[in-house]
Amino acid sequence: MAIERYIGIMSGTSMDGVDTVLVEIEENSIRLMGENSFPMGEDLKQALLDICLGQSTNLQAVGELDHRLGHLFADAVLALLENTGIPADSITAIGSHGQTVFHSPDTQYAFTMQLGDANIIAAKTHITTIADFRRKDMALGGQGAPLVPAFHQQLFSSLDTTRVILNIGGIANITVLTPNQPVTGYDTGPGNMLMDTWIHQYNGSQYDANAKWAKTGTVNKILLERLLDEPYFKQPAPKSTGRELFNLPWLQQKLSGLEIPAEDVQATLAEFTAVTITNDVITYQHNEKPELSTKQELLVCGGGAHNPLLMARLAAQLPNWQVMTTTERGVDSDNMEAMAFAWLAYRTYHNQPGNLPEVTGASGLTSLGAIYPAS
Ligand SMILES: Nc1ncnc2c1ncn2[C@@H]1O[C@H](COP(=O)(O)OP(=O)(O)O)[C@@H](O)[C@H]1O
Ligand SMILES: [Mg+2]
Repeated sequence: MAIERYIGIMSGTSMDGVDTVLVEIEENSIRLMGENSFPMGEDLKQALLDICLGQSTNLQAVGELDHRLGHLFADAVLALLENTGIPADSITAIGSHGQTVFHSPDTQYAFTMQLGDANIIAAKTHITTIADFRRKDMALGGQGAPLVPAFHQQLFSSLDTTRVILNIGGIANITVLTPNQPVTGYDTGPGNMLMDTWIHQYNGSQYDANAKWAKTGTVNKILLERLLDEPYFKQPAPKSTGRELFNLPWLQQKLSGLEIPAEDVQATLAEFTAVTITNDVITYQHNEKPELSTKQELLVCGGGAHNPLLMARLAAQLPNWQVMTTTERGVDSDNMEAMAFAWLAYRTYHNQPGNLPEVTGASGLTSLGAIYPAS
């Protein structure tokens, strides 16, 4: 097969900006050619947060957000093309994840909603755009999430090493690659989201850079127990979650009746993220032979890979695992998700499946998303 170029666009639950990548794909290899992080305006972010928290909205507001996000994603692509100097007509397709505003996989009328009109992206960039990746999997009874495990499998599966790929975005999700076993993957629970929310309502910061604030606090055991006492953590996979469950009102309810200094809450939230991840990762550990421990790797990507407190707590709680970022295994930890959606676009463009039914619970393999031609 000839080399093809794809662009991936990802804007996750953190709403910290739009990540774009330009990749070259050839048979089984993928090469990063360029990347860009494009800012999301504060008023747009606030409007999104409002509807995500189930505040009453109306169809006009939803439609307008779909439109604004379509332009934002198109502008992010145009900025990427300008930075790289690579012409638009050399790109085969864009894979756009869209901005999730609601994810409800386990309710009677299950649905997931990503906004960012792909018609606008295709029209403004003149590049064929593939979007709406999650709903086909859901139509087959799956969670529609996570969709990155097939890509992780392609990049990191090994014949002798158990690898868990951990993405710490707003939500944290793992992909478990055990030699000669089917892939497992699911959302472990909150990643950075509660920490971001807590510091934002405390002092207006978007996030606790390098966990500076959390490090000044002490973990509160009572609060930690309460946070862990949430049915989601006992639920078997397949499972996925989002802001609909883990949000500020949820945290405030857990805090009710407790008098805890704000920095201790932040420290406890960091510990909570680390503990929920550890509890899941440890279930995939070989427990027989200590020498096998060198053959277990936890590869971390997403913004949380930059959080030294989270990384230290994971390493401390998982002494039998080599904890490192995916960058140390050759794939930039900040671009993994956007690269995954570029790769999923490539799969769909070639009518290849992108989901893993053993991960999402869908009844079968399927090609994902819809194609919006450039012209
Ligand atoms: N230096 C850092 N220290 C602590 N946290 C960080 C740092 N850099 C990024 N983050 C965290 O990563 C988040 C963004 O992660 P990202 O992978 O983009 O998530 P999403 O996919 O949900 O957008 C930020 O909101 C912040 O919480
Ligand atoms: Mg992000």
